[in-house]
Amino acid sequence: MALLSVLTPVLVVILCLVIGFMLVKSREPETTSTSQDKTKAASKSEFRPWVDQDLQDDTEITAREDEDDDWVDNEQDLPHVPYSHQRYTEETMLARSQEFYTLMNQRRSVRFISPEPVPREVIDNVIRTAGTAPSGAHTEPWTFVVVSDPEMKHQIRLIVEEEEEVNYRQRMGDKWVRDLAKLRTNWIKEYLDVAPYLVLIFKQTYGILPNSQKKTHYYNEISVSISCGILLAALQNAGLVTVTSTPLNCGPQLRLLLKRPANEKLLILLPVGYPAADATIPDLKRKPLDDIMVHI
Ligand SMILES: Cc1cc2nc3c(=O)[nH]c(=O)nc-3n(C[C@H](O)[C@H](O)[C@H](O)COP(=O)(O)O)c2cc1C
Repeated sequence: MALLSVLTPVLVVILCLVIGFMLVKSREPETTSTSQDKTKAASKSEFRPWVDQDLQDDTEITAREDEDDDWVDNEQDLPHVPYSHQRYTEETMLARSQEFYTLMNQRRSVRFISPEPVPREVIDNVIRTAGTAPSGAHTEPWTFVVVSDPEMKHQIRLIVEEEEEVNYRQRMGDKWVRDLAKLRTNWIKEYLDVAPYLVLIFKQTYGILPNSQKKTHYYNEISVSISCGILLAALQNAGLVTVTSTPLNCGPQLRLLLKRPANEKLLILLPVGYPAADATIPDLKRKPLDDIMVHI
């Protein structure tokens, strides 16, 4: 009896330890990760700045997953009308396709832009042209912000240069910086002050109707990218130059500066104007047709 009364506290302590051990074990993950698993996880979460977080877009397919009453479908009955088509002779088609290729083959990214003013109506027409792009379910998920105010251009430059310096020095990595060396680009973006217009193209990740309901913008990034291509062609056609720029990590700051709503994400920034008199460009060559086309 005396032995039992001595042993009881010891048994209680042992019992507590066993229960404690079992509780701790039950909270551990079921399998211990191998070094291979760890490498896989690391490479999955690897920072891939060319897929800028600003550009990541899970709205196309999954937008309706977190569906709530704020989302609306456009179910209006749309009349269909005859299509009017401009048909050319084969000779004319050939000539026009050749002429258009010649025009577009002269397009180059120009990083030295003249301050010379450009008529505002030309810019309006160029943006109108970009707005003719096809878009997922005709949602037209684009906003073109045209900036000509010198102070606003300068604010944009300050944001872009600050982030671009960090991009070049830290985020982009040695390989990317080496790949860009031949283009002689860096984080100094004088053209942001100098170009008569900056066009900032935002994709609308979803639409907001006048009654505040949200509307799905299918494939919004592809749609806006197509409209940017048409915009580049329209600028070339008007005799203006630009450089397609995608200022990494600047999207949120520029969105706030330009007072754009949260459903808009910056995709591309285009400085627009005439080329500077002493503008230079890298002597790049384009792949021949055989390298870019597969005819089956
Ligand atoms: C999606 C995309 C992003 C680009 N980003 C930049 C950029 O941030 N800065 C820049 O100077 N050029 C940028 N460029 C321009 C490319 O460097 C240029 O198009 C390429 O070197 C080919 O030259 P070209 O446009 O004269 O044919 C970008 C082009 C594309 C299509």
